[in-house]
Amino acid sequence: MAVPDRDEKKRKQFGNRFLTDTARLFQHNAWDNVEWSEEQEAAAQAKVREQSMQLVPQDQQDSEDLERLDTERNSNSNITYQLQSEDEMTSQKLGEGKVIKDGDFPGSSATYRILEVGCGAGNTVFPILQTNNDPGLFVYCCDFSTTAVDLVQAHPEYDASRCFAFVHDLTKTQTPFPMPDESLDVVVLIFVLSSLLPEKMQCVINRLSQLLRPGGIILLRDYGRFDLAQLRFKKGQCLADNFYVRGDGTRVYFFTQDELDLLFSTAGLEKIQNIVDRRLQVNRGKQITMYRVWIQCKYRKPQGDDESVAGRISSIIN
Ligand SMILES: C[S@@+](CC[C@H](N)C(=O)[O-])C[C@H]1O[C@@H](n2cnc3c(N)ncnc32)[C@H](O)[C@@H]1O
Repeated sequence: MAVPDRDEKKRKQFGNRFLTDTARLFQHNAWDNVEWSEEQEAAAQAKVREQSMQLVPQDQQDSEDLERLDTERNSNSNITYQLQSEDEMTSQKLGEGKVIKDGDFPGSSATYRILEVGCGAGNTVFPILQTNNDPGLFVYCCDFSTTAVDLVQAHPEYDASRCFAFVHDLTKTQTPFPMPDESLDVVVLIFVLSSLLPEKMQCVINRLSQLLRPGGIILLRDYGRFDLAQLRFKKGQCLADNFYVRGDGTRVYFFTQDELDLLFSTAGLEKIQNIVDRRLQVNRGKQITMYRVWIQCKYRKPQGDDESVAGRISSIIN
């Protein structure tokens, strides 16, 4: 059912517990790199075909309607950034086209900078801050939900000298970021690209790539095709091929590795890693199995001859 990975180093990214004896299935909560049988793959394809036979009616799935929904849900998610200094917190509205000069942005004195987009409540940001005590590190994070950003800012470990959380809608690509282009070492997207309209994804990745310095990298983890979350959708929730709307109005797309490769390479980035993890999660109490499919990517902005940046980044993220 599952085989150990050939590339042990690569698999460590996802975990390395392999199910070699199906009798042990319910002995652990999760198994890594589970291979799917042909029947299982065919059943998933059939399920997805069935879902796409009944799309959300066109008059209810207009992009603008969906955008309006987002706007209503995030009514304050505009372009007000909270700029904090040691003794004051100022709110400054940044108009379109404002040029941020070196030295006048949060984190300008840092030696390496990470931005997490679609940060939610900060499940990635705080572990990064906890595990990296390098005084040169500065972490930005944004979300279009003011509630999410408020949660991050209210977190006991939110430290304005090391971190800057701000409201930002990624799809508004003209809205300025609070840092200049080519200033970031790492951009992180965890289960966020999938929530955007597919036609907006390329512009978003292009914009994020502009923020990367040469040699900087984008890290992504997101839903892969036939993940349990996709197969669970009922008829009438499908907006387009592999793109669905949940009961709460949020959307989700399920990627292939090739689709992600195209998005990043079109933005001018070079592949370091693009892997799929087929993980089997187990509910031991209920004796239920759940097949997850997640894709993990690392893409780098081409650089001149400064190889040291890549080395520095891997020491931050490992
Ligand atoms: C599935 S959650 C993931 C949150 C977080 N990355 C994590 O893994 O815990 C997706 C997040 O993306 C945010 N999001 C969705 N569309 C966005 C957009 N257009 N701009 C910025 N954030 C967005 C949502 O508000 C939500 O917090």
